[in-house]
Amino acid sequence: MKHYLAVNDIDDLNQWVEEAKLLKANSVALKNLGKDKTICLLFFNNSLRTRLSTQKAAINLGMNVMVMNFGSEGWQLEFGDGEIMNQGKSEHIKEAAKVVSQFCDIVAIRAFASLADKEKDEAEIVLKGFTKHASIPVINMESSVEHPLQALADAITIAEQNNKTKPKIVLSWAPHPKALPHAVANSFVKMMQLQDAHFVITHPKGYELNPQITKNVSIEYNQEKACENADFIYVKNWSSYTDYGKVLHKDTKWMMTKKKLGKAKFMHCLPVRRNVVVADDVLDSNQSLVIEQANNRTFAAQLVLKKILEKL
Ligand code: CP
Repeated sequence: MKHYLAVNDIDDLNQWVEEAKLLKANSVALKNLGKDKTICLLFFNNSLRTRLSTQKAAINLGMNVMVMNFGSEGWQLEFGDGEIMNQGKSEHIKEAAKVVSQFCDIVAIRAFASLADKEKDEAEIVLKGFTKHASIPVINMESSVEHPLQALADAITIAEQNNKTKPKIVLSWAPHPKALPHAVANSFVKMMQLQDAHFVITHPKGYELNPQITKNVSIEYNQEKACENADFIYVKNWSSYTDYGKVLHKDTKWMMTKKKLGKAKFMHCLPVRRNVVVADDVLDSNQSLVIEQANNRTFAAQLVLKKILEKL
């Protein structure tokens, strides 16, 4: 594997999860694998978990880490070919990606969807620009369309907690005051298609995800019915995909409650808005896996880095 850009880059999920569990059991066992290698983390958007867990993963493998908040500290990048750069953008991706490639051995990028222009977001110009013009491996730390490190951590968490051959796993939309991207939901749906599970998505009408991603997945518009007898309920807000980037309504009835959760385990990628997305008594209960999901971000990143370092 050269790059880790999407859930589709996972060739054998079961084997990846088993390997991640081994890394978790002894996180510094491979502390010489990344010796004298450097990773550069470029953030075009904010982060807590992704930033710290990817740093921690690299440190566990003995790597050097450089972090840059590119969105606020870097030059504004131009991505178009043949542009006359006489406006606000100072540097072209062609030079920026090549320059970054000289300073490090792996580059990881976070660049969210704008939610203003579907076509542009789906072109993933930042992630794909670096992948095209850098000469080093690229890792996706959440792009417009995918968050594959989060989805891998989620798969590890489910594997650790699951005691059924085919668990019922529900992805439920939840209300949120702001328009949020689709990346986490997209990658979770893709991950569930690699998993032996009875998988159901529930959301209000109008919040259908990209039908190319949800094809063959069952969608239930009645949230309570969808959640019945679930083993895991993954809650996440996303804005409308068809009416791109819009918040259609803030139906508070879709907040996850103890009653709807039943005996299921609660999952969320974090950060989460308490008593908007999910009730306090769910998050504070021992049914919540959110802290363990965040912990597993380290081992998801460590596994991806291991696989890339082994090929360098
Ligand atoms: N879940 C996640 O990616 O968290 P951060 O946005 O804090 O990195």
